[in-house]
Amino acid sequence: MKVGIGSDHAGYRLKKLLLPMLEKEGFELTDVGTYSEDSVDYPDFAVQVAKGVASGEYDRGVLICGTGLGMAISANKVSGIRAVTVHDTFSAEMARRHNNATVMTMGERVIGPGLAAEIVKVFLTTEFEGGRHQRRVDKMTEIERQNLDATC
Ligand code: RB5
Repeated sequence: MKVGIGSDHAGYRLKKLLLPMLEKEGFELTDVGTYSEDSVDYPDFAVQVAKGVASGEYDRGVLICGTGLGMAISANKVSGIRAVTVHDTFSAEMARRHNNATVMTMGERVIGPGLAAEIVKVFLTTEFEGGRHQRRVDKMTEIERQNLDATC
């Protein structure tokens, strides 16, 4: 599975801890940055990962900032993306099984590294259930399509 991963300065340390663990699990990682704790702007990294997921370059995206919130808001601006902020394993599992979320975000200032690692693993290994959930996901996509039509 190809995973695009990114952070801002506030998520850099957590991302650095997660990278070797995810590599060991066999995920093919692309780290789009940032590569230090120098202050940067989270939308610059969210858009790279989200566009990579939307184009099929990555199967999933993982984004980390201070809270996970700015990353999720930014990623969800990219057409076709369903990004969720998750800080517990149940939500990570349901975001995949029911919502077919393809990008997850977390906050380094919210969560410890042990739980964060578990959450990412759950998110990356849980399949979408389809069925009645597909209909609901399709309705979300339709809202997006109508918004795009309204701007043309
Ligand atoms: C950076 O200070 C912080 O605002 C950012 O990492 C993130 O938490 C925004 O949502």
